[in-house]
Amino acid sequence: MEQQLKALREAAIAELARVTDLEEAHDLRVKYLGRKGSLTTVLRGLGGLSPEERPRIGQIVNELRDELEDQINQKAADLKKAELNRKIAAERIDVTLPGRRARLGHRHPVTLTVGRIKSIFMRMGFSVAEGSEVETDYYNFELLNMPPDHPARDMQDSFYITPEILLRTHTSPVQARTMQAAGPNAPVRVIVPGKTYRCDYDATHSPMFHQVEGLVIDKGISFADLKGTLDLFAKEMFGSSVRTRFRPSFFPFTEPSAEVDISCVICGGSGCRVCKGSGWLEILGSGMTHPRVLELSGYDPSQVSGFAFGMGVERIAMLVYGIDDLRLFYENDLRFLAQF
Ligand code: FA5
Ligand code: MG
Repeated sequence: MEQQLKALREAAIAELARVTDLEEAHDLRVKYLGRKGSLTTVLRGLGGLSPEERPRIGQIVNELRDELEDQINQKAADLKKAELNRKIAAERIDVTLPGRRARLGHRHPVTLTVGRIKSIFMRMGFSVAEGSEVETDYYNFELLNMPPDHPARDMQDSFYITPEILLRTHTSPVQARTMQAAGPNAPVRVIVPGKTYRCDYDATHSPMFHQVEGLVIDKGISFADLKGTLDLFAKEMFGSSVRTRFRPSFFPFTEPSAEVDISCVICGGSGCRVCKGSGWLEILGSGMTHPRVLELSGYDPSQVSGFAFGMGVERIAMLVYGIDDLRLFYENDLRFLAQF
């Protein structure tokens, strides 16, 4: 029996020396120390020994088991450590390699254009207000002198959420909100940039687009103020040689109303494909604030007067950058966006 155990020990230690990975170490543990392992089998055979021999052999078996267990554990720990060192060595950073530059994004051309429009008006003393993109019918239409069934509502095909709530079709609802917040007859000089929504889709119309609204109210504001302000804006935005033209138009919330055109930025006014031969490009709608609009927001039209305007930002960005399809702004094609 003692001979058998000695042979078993030598075999186990020899095998352990040949173990090269954790899986083999595990197999070895099962082979000798597992429930059906060699040493366990010997231990079960102790019953056949004489009562004098049993404790002595039993002790040898137990010692051998502890020894093998220790050795296998040690081997497994060594293997784990070696494995970790190998991984660390493989992942070592080669500081002599050239670095990988992080690709920086930049602002979208529409955002850049909003920024330029804002800075031009801020230099003229305007402050910036914002409204919400989800509006009530009351602010989007009614307070702008467009009661239900007013035909001008048809010009702005809207996205309704409920019959009373919609995605604003223009930034003009912020006119009433600004006047109401300022208080009766208080002077106002704001611009309102933001997103607007209409059920439109073609090369010059998108369902989501941007507008910048402007509103000026004070004692004695006249059409000359409107003209001077918008002419200066056009020259700052498109260059000092640009001329403006004010064409009679209609908006329910301004009277009189005017569309503002600039001389064509491509041909300078002689007529080309972009201006369709007319020499002029439309950039915004404007007018003197309708007395009814002042009244509806608690202002007294016999005390103050004002003007308002609203421009499409994509339209202006198209003119500034020479882009002929508005939808390019929203396709997220990096080959397009990287140019700005
Ligand atoms: C208005 O929205 C008026 N609220 C502007 C205004 C404000 C007039 C204050 C008077 C006083 P209009 O519907 O014309 O007006 O739109 C203004 C501009 O928004 C257009 O000239 C155009 O540049 C832009 N626009 C309109 N619909 C779209 C669209 N679907 N996609 C892109 N731009 C659009
Ligand atoms: Mg228009």
